[in-house]
Amino acid sequence: MAAGFSLPSALERTPLAEILLDRIRSEGPIPFSEYMRACLYHPEHGYYARAEARRFADYYTSPDVHPVFGRLVARQLAEMWERLGQPGEFMAVEGGAGAGRLAGHILDFAERELPEFFSALRYAAVESSAARRAMQAETIGRHLGAGRVESRADLPERIPAGCVFSNELLDAMPVDRVVGSAEGLREVFVGERERWFAEVTALPHSPHIADYFARQGVRFAEGQQAEAALEVCDWIQEAGRRLERGFVMTIDYGHEAPELYNARHMRGSLVAYRDHRVSEQFYAAPGLQDLTAHVSFTALDLWGRDAGLERTGLASQTRFLLALGRANEFADVYDEGQTETERMRARLKLKTLIYPEGMGETFQVFIQHKGLAAPVLRGLSEL
Ligand SMILES: C[S@@+](CC[C@H](N)C(=O)[O-])C[C@H]1O[C@@H](n2cnc3c(N)ncnc32)[C@H](O)[C@@H]1O
Repeated sequence: MAAGFSLPSALERTPLAEILLDRIRSEGPIPFSEYMRACLYHPEHGYYARAEARRFADYYTSPDVHPVFGRLVARQLAEMWERLGQPGEFMAVEGGAGAGRLAGHILDFAERELPEFFSALRYAAVESSAARRAMQAETIGRHLGAGRVESRADLPERIPAGCVFSNELLDAMPVDRVVGSAEGLREVFVGERERWFAEVTALPHSPHIADYFARQGVRFAEGQQAEAALEVCDWIQEAGRRLERGFVMTIDYGHEAPELYNARHMRGSLVAYRDHRVSEQFYAAPGLQDLTAHVSFTALDLWGRDAGLERTGLASQTRFLLALGRANEFADVYDEGQTETERMRARLKLKTLIYPEGMGETFQVFIQHKGLAAPVLRGLSEL
């Protein structure tokens, strides 16, 4: 996700705010994950339940910058297919496929440039929001019509050989919030005061919250805040269980535990996005702003192991894209018949994706594998 710097935004009494305040008045304070789930996924008022009102309204993601992102991901998927011994069917399962832009870039490129891989490719565009699934008719309608792609709400039951991958899916999963105190770990609940949201701390509502941090070796300083991404743990275990042979590739912002829970992140990593502004005003406009938290790659690794996934490696998006693109001097950034000005514009977009001060070092690519021994992948190679 990319957006500008933080400015305070006005509090907005949205219909969802009223629904949540009513609920808190009758049930008492709720875990932050319940609040975040409603803000993002409430069937009527959730941020992701609606179709995108305007493209890039609040932020943009790597596939929005330029198709070269998807083209290089396609090259990585094709290499994974080779590492698996070129099976007759390779399932590319994209979690959180949204409106299908990344899927479109991958499929169009594979069809044109990687025909052998394309003949084995079966694509599942997995998107929980029905409104966003409906938008996929525009981006991948041709491939849906040809039976190459299946658009679905959850992961396929069985993935005999393939790759489950995502771009900015896991950061959008609801998290619980905690704070370190002299008495031990406390959870931050969402309560109500003077007809608006107010945070309340109490003992955690589930033992899994303390386990989440203990398993990652995290020790809290007094006042240190952090997020427990229990749904991410469930998701990686489920992906690992359903995958028989292949890879899980997660592209997202985040860190390994020692960095994510260090002194630089004393306030945690949760932020709100609205109109290209980042803020910590989580209660400003429930349902109208995005909420996201950094991913712990240590948690993905540990919980993935429970389902037979092994760590292949972690690379910044800079290293991943450079490693995949340099083989043909980034020829994939160009389209046929472009003018020199258009080619220059395309190169600038590539820089946004790759440069450390752009999206390159913010985003990481974490790859896990199952059913094959220590595979070497170009996207993880040293530069
Ligand atoms: C931040 S958006 C990213 C969209 C797209 N991957 C991109 O890079 O532009 C996250 C998407 O994941 C979807 N989502 C969230 N949880 C999901 C789940 N458990 N299964 C499938 N999709 C999910 C949301 O509805 C939303 O469309």
